Amino acid sequence: MVLVKDVYEIGEIPPVGVVPKEMYAQVIRPERFGEPKDAFQVEKVATPTELGPREALVMVMAAGINYNNIWAARGMPVNVIKAREKQGDTTGFHIGGSDASGVVQAVGSDVTSLQVGDEVVIHCGMWDENDASVTAGKDPVFSRSFQIWGYESNWGSFAQFTKVQAHQCMPKAKHLTWEEAAAPTLVGATAHRMLTNWAPNSVKKGDVVLIWGGSGGLGSMAIQIVRELGGIPVAVVSSEDKFAFCEKLGAKGCINRKDFDHWGMMPHWTDDEAYGKWAKGAREFGAKLWEVLGERRSPAIVFDHPGEDTIPTSIFVCDTGGMVVICAGTTGFNATVDLRYLWMRQKRLQGSHFANDEDANAFNQLVRDGKIDPCLGDTYTFNEIPLTHQLMSEGKQPLGVMAALVNAPREGMKDLG
Ligand SMILES: NC(=O)c1ccc[n+]([C@@H]2O[C@H](COP(=O)([O-])OP(=O)(O)OC[C@H]3O[C@@H](n4cnc5c(N)ncnc54)[C@H](OP(=O)(O)O)[C@@H]3O)[C@@H](O)[C@H]2O)c1
Repeated sequence: MVLVKDVYEIGEIPPVGVVPKEMYAQVIRPERFGEPKDAFQVEKVATPTELGPREALVMVMAAGINYNNIWAARGMPVNVIKAREKQGDTTGFHIGGSDASGVVQAVGSDVTSLQVGDEVVIHCGMWDENDASVTAGKDPVFSRSFQIWGYESNWGSFAQFTKVQAHQCMPKAKHLTWEEAAAPTLVGATAHRMLTNWAPNSVKKGDVVLIWGGSGGLGSMAIQIVRELGGIPVAVVSSEDKFAFCEKLGAKGCINRKDFDHWGMMPHWTDDEAYGKWAKGAREFGAKLWEVLGERRSPAIVFDHPGEDTIPTSIFVCDTGGMVVICAGTTGFNATVDLRYLWMRQKRLQGSHFANDEDANAFNQLVRDGKIDPCLGDTYTFNEIPLTHQLMSEGKQPLGVMAALVNAPREGMKDLG
């Protein structure tokens, strides 16, 4: 590892293989927890140069923006800094960022899959390879050691350098700019696992798939993955001006959720009047879905993440033998289920969380093959990383996914050239 300058300015690309002593980072500290615009601040910190045998240090060219660092900025539902202190972390801060494109600058002593100078994107699944369940051959996402890099772990992509496990690095699609490449991996790999990993309820040719938040990060990737697998995506959004975006990605049609008002936890089944009103709303939503499809077919898979607001309807409209798959509870965690629909129609409610190497690489291959549009809504500067999270927390972000330039000096660059 060659040490040349003590610190490089943002946008000033250090030579391949060079690691400065210090780096700029967008840092969250507990005393700033709250609104994302206030929680992040640019600080100069020591570059994490100590690498374990299977780790790598990547120079971040661009970072993708995700919802998880809104949670980190708020310090809830988990204070990620305190949680890490229990595991021995003494930094007292959080450097978030769970998506990146960049260049490998250094590798640990046992790394054979990567070389200094490799251009990569990074998936955010980390785990202890010596964990008993991993060595026993179980899916590492089930391991107790599983962590989301740049959320549960420190040293994420909102800094000039990021420390990762080598297996997280995947080849960057050459046809994409740094900012396009940085944008889709977290949401895309998550969506890929949700739609393909839960056999027998994986997307099959001709399956109808209902996708909440079709113009958001997860939703825009889910529409395209379903399209590629031969399914029929139908998107739910909150205004008609988002319909064209979803349809261009492959949605057969869209539903405006603002046309309905039965959202949230279900009324108790003994409250005939309130329950009847809820059931009417759910039936009307189901009828709208058939109208959009042009046939009376129910979704084999419902792709959910809003959670509390939407789960009762997702379970209601899902086909007999179908699956509601969920990876978040953005609107709340008390998802209510009328068990009669679940058992009589033998539906499945399946939790899903990020991805393993196979899921992430399968998604990345679709990106490299040019089959997935990264849906980069807008590109921001390094200093605007707090703003991007504020916009997202207020639902004011552009359609698709956001990215911020870190070491890339300008938009449009596809390599170090
Ligand atoms: N477990 C995991 O591995 C994992 C991975 C990725 C993301 N997540 C989580 O998944 C959630 C979504 O992430 P994202 O990146 O897709 O966020 P996003 O880009 O902000 O998209 C979320 C979409 O949800 C829709 N929405 C908002 N409120 C809603 C409501 N009350 N009912 C129905 N839909 C609503 C919005 O679309 P409309 O307003 O147009 O309906 C929005 O576009 C976040 O909580 C994130 O942390 C979890």
